[in-house]
Amino acid sequence: MVTALKRLALLPGRRGLGGEALVNAVLRALDAPEASSADIGKLRAEIVNDAELAAQYERNVPRLLEISPHKQIRSWGERMARPIAMAGADIFYVLPRILRPALVVETGVASGSMTAMLLAALHRNGFGALESFDLPAVAGQRSMDWSVKNEDEIGFLVPAAYRDRWKLTLGDATYLLPRAMEGRTVDCFFHDSDHSYEHQIFEYALALKHLSPRGWIVSDDVSMSPAFERVFSDTSTFFHRDHPNVGIAVPNWSQGE
Ligand SMILES: C[S@@+](CC[C@H](N)C(=O)[O-])C[C@H]1O[C@@H](n2cnc3c(N)ncnc32)[C@H](O)[C@@H]1O
Repeated sequence: MVTALKRLALLPGRRGLGGEALVNAVLRALDAPEASSADIGKLRAEIVNDAELAAQYERNVPRLLEISPHKQIRSWGERMARPIAMAGADIFYVLPRILRPALVVETGVASGSMTAMLLAALHRNGFGALESFDLPAVAGQRSMDWSVKNEDEIGFLVPAAYRDRWKLTLGDATYLLPRAMEGRTVDCFFHDSDHSYEHQIFEYALALKHLSPRGWIVSDDVSMSPAFERVFSDTSTFFHRDHPNVGIAVPNWSQGE
């Protein structure tokens, strides 16, 4: 979690794309057929009306209010009515629903808000797996402003029904990731762990090494360091207008060839 002050200082003046334009720009960069407004609307409706995600979220509202008292969101419907949440849905649900990744790797789970969306997408796809790596969140450490009560609490927003495609490994991604990714290709890599320059460079480089030809890299908190802009300076990158602190890179884009 980035503190409010840091967020204010670091939010980019970057202009992002509206949801549909973003989804289709990523699809084009990956040489995938574009999605119609109706298709994207249908996928967004799936997540807004997802009974498992809604029930899990609402069961945990008291905990969420403890963690983020400033948010005061009391239902899934209220949450998904916020533009930033729908932007998250475009990135972490709509895109994986369309692109059907076989393997997604994620660093940084904490409450599991994005993990839950990714797993809901894999569940509806009936295909694919998510491997997540996380160090238990501790307030005041690694840019977190709350602590998990215990290891079992990690990913508490992930419904039981969506856990069968999930492997969660606890520990430092610096040591775990290289071994876990050895000899494997990743279709979607999502960074949301340590946002220091060195660590972001490390994760992006590892993701690039293992990315499948039609793979994409998503990073939260791209404004925390210049790493995203530097590593992907020659790459097709995309930002959502309503969530511009998340960057999407498509390193193997065809450039029209
Ligand atoms: C911002 S939170 C993740 C939020 C989550 N993606 C979500 O959407 O709810 C960052 C998480 O990454 C973990 N973390 C930080 N550095 C890490 C590292 N080197 N390896 C693994 N996890 C790390 C933190 O402890 C915390 O649980």
